[in-house]
Amino acid sequence: MPVDGAAHRPGHLRLGVNIDHVATIRNARGGTYPDPIRAALIAQDAGADGITAHLREDRRHIIDEDIGHLIGAISLPLNMEMAATEEMLGIALRHRPHAVCLVPERREERTTEGGLNAAGQHNHLKPMISRLGEAGIRVSLFIEPDPMQIEAAVSLGAPVVELHTGAYAHAEGEALAYELRRIADAAALAAKNGLEPHAGHGLTFENVQPIAAIPQIAELNIGHFLIAEAIFDGLGATVRRMRALMDEAR
Ligand code: PXP
Repeated sequence: MPVDGAAHRPGHLRLGVNIDHVATIRNARGGTYPDPIRAALIAQDAGADGITAHLREDRRHIIDEDIGHLIGAISLPLNMEMAATEEMLGIALRHRPHAVCLVPERREERTTEGGLNAAGQHNHLKPMISRLGEAGIRVSLFIEPDPMQIEAAVSLGAPVVELHTGAYAHAEGEALAYELRRIADAAALAAKNGLEPHAGHGLTFENVQPIAAIPQIAELNIGHFLIAEAIFDGLGATVRRMRALMDEAR
């Protein structure tokens, strides 16, 4: 599988392209275009290592059919983001994507605003992570770059943590250096404990390189900026530029 091949290339930082917001535009008119599957195929040709899609409980962008269509159409691994609910667990077990990233979800939020409280939900998350793992799905927990959450991920037996870069993406000045340090420290702690650290949220051409330079981070998941920039430059060119900036930072 390409993701595993990429993982064995020393220093290679994987790019997961999140195509949710192609579906947001499609759903604005309730029709069939723009097609997120077509976007995934363009991202694949332009150097993405994986495709990410978030099936939200309110189906505001990706809808159930998209998941099956994506798995059928792309040769890259699919990372399905979802809330830790029984409904979503059933969908994941039916489709068996390469990976599932468990995220917190609140209907009223505009996007995923904070990390999962892995430390406070052990009894709820543990059986879910086990069932996904037994089905051969790689489980990732989207958490704040906080040592307590990393320790919780270790005790839950999740092989991957995705570090929330939202606070970093919105920070300026001294706060920016502080947030970057938190992410670097969390990535080092995760790797030391045998977890594979990923990162994502709010990453752009301007702020990606300091995150891409953190040596333990194996994958970045990027969506909103890539789809927004694609309006002006095309998706292929935008993914290729992000890929080049990430490679340059390693
Ligand atoms: N990773 C996770 C777990 C997310 O929930 C999101 C947003 O859906 C992203 C990465 C990508 O964030 P953005 O769209 O801001 O690039």
